[in-house]
Amino acid sequence: MFTNKTFLITGIADEHSLAMYAAKEIIKNGGKVVCTGLGVSPFHHNLSDKAKAFLNQNFEDFKRSVHEFLGDAMVEILDVTIDENIEHFAKDLAQKGIKLDGFLHAIAMDKTIRNKEVKPLIEVTKDEFCDTMNVSAYSLIRVSHYLLKHGVLQDGASICSLSYIAAAKVTFHPYRNISIAKAALERITVELADELGRKHGIRVNAIRFSPYMGSKAGNATLKIEDVATSNKMSPLGNAVPMDLAYEICHLFRPESRITGEIRHVDGGYHITG
Ligand SMILES: NC(=O)c1ccc[n+]([C@@H]2O[C@H](COP(=O)([O-])OP(=O)(O)OC[C@H]3O[C@@H](n4cnc5c(N)ncnc54)[C@H](O)[C@@H]3O)[C@@H](O)[C@H]2O)c1
Repeated sequence: MFTNKTFLITGIADEHSLAMYAAKEIIKNGGKVVCTGLGVSPFHHNLSDKAKAFLNQNFEDFKRSVHEFLGDAMVEILDVTIDENIEHFAKDLAQKGIKLDGFLHAIAMDKTIRNKEVKPLIEVTKDEFCDTMNVSAYSLIRVSHYLLKHGVLQDGASICSLSYIAAAKVTFHPYRNISIAKAALERITVELADELGRKHGIRVNAIRFSPYMGSKAGNATLKIEDVATSNKMSPLGNAVPMDLAYEICHLFRPESRITGEIRHVDGGYHITG
């Protein structure tokens, strides 16, 4: 299905990341992947020792898991909050003659969730609000922008991002500030679908997935009881990462005319409540 096709996969922290399942499935279907992860780049300035250690550890885990599970896939550092980093990455792909047939946005961060507890929205600072929005939503625009600017993202490509039902409904577990960023991410998906569809034939879709504790982000946010509750409420039980990987591959399939969709891969959770 993906012979001679190359996709950018963002958001791999380790082998348990949702993005990793998608990357494996693309390779299984004959495609190639370029993977980006967080690490210390020449564009980071004034990092504290703690921040440097965190980023270095993140990059080591990312690189090790890619090499172990995705063979010789290219790995690059990408912090989506730094424009220079995104542009440098896009230019580098252009210089190497790498053309992308699409990319997966699997990036989110919300510092108002700590120890599985969420800060009340009324207490969220402007910085906390804007940081979450920047990393988790605006980055979809910025990454698309630089990949297009440097001619890396091809006409007819497919972009997919990962969302959650909390973009539309209040949930029973720690999601407040990030819900707003997910709502923005979904709106950006729809607006980009119109803009890039008309101009470049590029498709843009988002998928709302079930709660999943296996990843670093999921583990930092969710409690076992939360996952059990949604499993019980979903007619088919919670969706698993492979369900998501199949859907991402479906949306990445060349020649499709699916765009501007907010799809649910959640065992039917969204029809309940
Ligand atoms: N786990 C769940 O329950 C769940 C459910 C629905 C949707 N999602 C979404 O799926 C996506 C992937 O999450 P996951 O569960 O695989 O967790 P994960 O921790 O494996 O992935 C989150 C990724 O975001 C990256 N990231 C954070 N800040 C970044 C930045 N500034 N620049 C570049 N990358 C940055 C992290 O390095 C990490 O790789 C997220 O958008 C998340 O909201 C997760």
